[in-house]
Amino acid sequence: MLVSYPTRLALGLTLVYFLMSYKKAIQLAKHKQEPLKANRFVKISERIDRSDIPETVWKNLLSNNYLRVWKGTILLKGIMEITLYPMLLQELRPQTIIEIGAFNGGSAIWFADLMDIFGIESHIYSMDIDLSLLDEKAKNDQRIRFLQGDCNHIESLFSPELLSTLPHPWFITEDAHVNSGGILDYFHKNGLQSGDYIIIEDTNPWVWKHQRDEDIWAKDYSANDEMRGKNIMDVLRGWLQKHENEYLIDSYYLNMYGYNVSQNWNSVLKKV
Ligand SMILES: C[S@@+](CC[C@H](N)C(=O)[O-])C[C@H]1O[C@@H](n2cnc3c(N)ncnc32)[C@H](O)[C@@H]1O
Repeated sequence: MLVSYPTRLALGLTLVYFLMSYKKAIQLAKHKQEPLKANRFVKISERIDRSDIPETVWKNLLSNNYLRVWKGTILLKGIMEITLYPMLLQELRPQTIIEIGAFNGGSAIWFADLMDIFGIESHIYSMDIDLSLLDEKAKNDQRIRFLQGDCNHIESLFSPELLSTLPHPWFITEDAHVNSGGILDYFHKNGLQSGDYIIIEDTNPWVWKHQRDEDIWAKDYSANDEMRGKNIMDVLRGWLQKHENEYLIDSYYLNMYGYNVSQNWNSVLKKV
């Protein structure tokens, strides 16, 4: 007997309904319960530097990073971060966002748009050593204060006086990959408070091997350069060992798609 397409569709949907109870999903509200789990925030000594995704998969995920755009400007956030950051920002509701490494301005515009969507009034700063890299759209975005300077001298842009005026919670993302330990130290000593987040980006070592676009990256890029992710992670681990009771790793977001399925291995930090 021939069964019509609408009948087959209806039977299929009924089967799905019985296999998976949407009602149960709402009743259990795991999306509200899981973030409250006591073991969410962990010490660095409880984390290892690996990911559930193997190098071969990372190679594909990272291969076209420079094609990713937000409103036409390059957005160098990883594909996992593009789902994880909005959830984190919505949860944190930061009153201040500081980005180290603006590049084309795509991520700063994205942060500003997310704040608008969530109805959060936030002070948004984004700095870079070379603001000529900014897209015109970013330069004209009045919601963001772009600052030019060298993050080796982070104090020249974010003086203790300025930081003391910026409301909390803070969301700081270090995405210049320069002076990571110094930047952690500086914000630690100049205002980071309980509840604030600081992220050291691209501690995933495969970023430094596979994000490379041969047309864009230096021809003399060497095996030493490929070690940058590991070097940043080593600096971070050393720093966190000294501050183990003050900064914890948010395993909720870092493990959402598998252990460290993120460009930011073990580096989404919350001040206790
Ligand atoms: C990975 S890109 C930032 C990407 C951007 N946050 C995004 O998600 O689209 C790194 C940026 O750091 C900047 N940078 C490199 N060294 C720096 C330094 N010493 N101080 C400040 N910015 C620096 C580079 O000019 C570059 O634009």
